[in-house]
This record gives sequence, structure tokens and C-alpha cells, in this order.
Amino acid sequence: MTSYDPEIIKELESQRPKIPVGLLSRQEKDRLLERGFLGLYRWYVAKSQASRNWNPDKDFDWRKFRKDHSPEMNTILEGFFAVEQYVPDYVTKLLQVIRKSHGRSHFHIRWGSEEEKHADLWFNSVLFSEYRSPKWLDEYMGQLRGQEWHLPWDDPMHMIFYTVFQERATQVNYLNTAVIARGQSTNPTYANDADPVLVQVCAKIAADEAAHYNFFLEGARLFLYYYPAESLQAMSDIIRHFAMPAGNVIPNYDVFSEVVYKAGIYGPREHSKDVVQKALENLGVSGRKALEAGIKRSRLVPDENGNLRETATFDGIDFPAIEQKVRRIYRVIEGHEKEVGFADIDPTIFVPNY
Ligand SMILES: [Fe+2]
Ligand SMILES: [Fe+2]
Repeated sequence: MTSYDPEIIKELESQRPKIPVGLLSRQEKDRLLERGFLGLYRWYVAKSQASRNWNPDKDFDWRKFRKDHSPEMNTILEGFFAVEQYVPDYVTKLLQVIRKSHGRSHFHIRWGSEEEKHADLWFNSVLFSEYRSPKWLDEYMGQLRGQEWHLPWDDPMHMIFYTVFQERATQVNYLNTAVIARGQSTNPTYANDADPVLVQVCAKIAADEAAHYNFFLEGARLFLYYYPAESLQAMSDIIRHFAMPAGNVIPNYDVFSEVVYKAGIYGPREHSKDVVQKALENLGVSGRKALEAGIKRSRLVPDENGNLRETATFDGIDFPAIEQKVRRIYRVIEGHEKEVGFADIDPTIFVPNY
């Protein structure tokens, strides 16, 4: 029997590369991703039910919603209503792609139930603003639902990165609308749009979008950690071709996007600084240049069995930080699994990718 000196083991451990060298098989990585998503999903649902279980009808004093908002603010409310109206498509289309994954598909249904509340929250805002008649609203909804939203990408990896950027963009939209609703906009068009009910609406919905963003961020990190080269490519594709959901199927979307741009809610500046830069930073990538450079340097090299292995030096991409964050979420999952008892029978265990 061989005995190992703990000091030598420590020394060897410290010399192991801190970037992924692709020693795990794809099958094993897919299994780890699946387990990670299941753990994430279970933890998310417990937290979501305990902290964000609000109701779009009863948690707001709708009779007090202002009925004299500026026409521009009404255009914004109608635009948000329209975007959230495609929730049946947002749920069903991606569900078809990820249906085999327990964690990811069940999360998606839960996510859909939260997005469904957003659609009703904006419905109530438009209805109680009384800017339009209930008949108009009914017809507009029919017009919207006459169109179908289609997936911008049809594979699970691209879609995890798409949802990261999309959820963050949605959150930024609602946070900046809250600034107007608090009466803090410097834009004179919105000088008379302060509305305490709208402040509450924006706060509730922005908190949900933040939770969605965080979930997708954790999921995206798992992909990035186990499949770095492919993930960087997917991320780059998303950034290059990103468009807000349903923008191409909503009638008069251009009018809405011009209004939100002029209102300082969302435009190229917010997109680049508050969405792309922020998400890249959260994912351990120091910027778009680093992302493109990382893609160029990463190569997929076949191993002795013909499997593609990743060899890469990713300057500007902080893998130790990514691993630290992945380990952190595994500790969170572990806490949930210990509490419930999963940990005694079948715990989710972190496996390093080097
Ligand atoms: Fe939403
Ligand atoms: Fe969302």
C-alpha cells in the first residue's frame, strides 16, 4: 500500500492548472450540468415561494392608480404589457427544447408562472390607467396573441445566455421606469407621472426579474465552467444579435422603443453599460474585447478517443473567479439539500473541471 505525504499532495494540488483542461467527458459534464440545474431549481423554488409570492390583483391598490399619466407613460405601460403578453410562447417554445432536463424544465414552468403574473400586472396597469377602454384593451390583446413569438436560438446553451441578457435588460427597464414613477425623472415630459402604485408595480416586477437574472446567471456559469469555449462563442453570438423578446411581432414596437429610449429607460447606452457590461462582469469576463480574444485563443482539440477537448488560455476571463462562484452556489444548494434531507441520500456534489 502506498502512503502519500499530505504536504506533497498539497503541493501537487497547488500546481494543478486553474483553467479547464477538459479532462471530463462530455457525458460526465452533461450529468454535472443536469445535477447542478436540479439543485439550483430546488433552491430557487423554495426561496421564490418564501419571499416573492405576491398577487397581481390583491397586492396593489388599483383604484389609486393614476388616470392622468402622460401619453408617453401610457405608451410605456402598453409596451410592457405587450412584451409580457407572449408568456405562453416564452414557456412552451423553450420547454420543448429542455423538456428532458428535470431541473431546467421544471424551473422554466416556475419561471413562466412568475412571468404570467407580470403580464397580468401590466394588464391591470393599462386597465386602471383608463387611458384606453376595456374593449380596446381586449382587442389589442387579441391582436398581440394573433402573432407568435419564436425562439431566437433553438439550443439550450444559447438560450441560457440569451435569458441572462434578456432578464437583465427587462430588470433595467423596470428599474428606470420606477425612477419616473417616483417623480425623479429629469425629463420634463414625465414631470407629472409620479405614481405610488406604479412605484410598487415596478418594484415587485423588478425584484422578480432580478431573481430570474440571478438564476440564469448561475446556470450560465455552470455552462461556462464546464464548456468554456462553446459558452464564450454562444455568449458572443447573443451579444452580437441581441434583440428584446417579441420586438419583431408587436405592432408599433418602434414607437414604444423610441419612447423608452427618449425617457432614459432603455437605449443603446443602457444596453451596453447596464446589461452587456454588467452581465459579462458577473460572468467573469472583463469585457467584449476579452470575450472575442478568448474565442480566438480557445481551440477544441481531439483526444485519443476522438472526443473534442478544450485547450485554452483565456486572458481576460477569470476562471478562478468563475470556479469560486460555482463553488459558492454549490454550497447554497448543499444548505438546501441538508435542510430537506436530499444530502443524506443523493447530494449534489461539485466536481472541478481540471
Ligand atoms: Fe417579466
Ligand atoms: Fe423575467
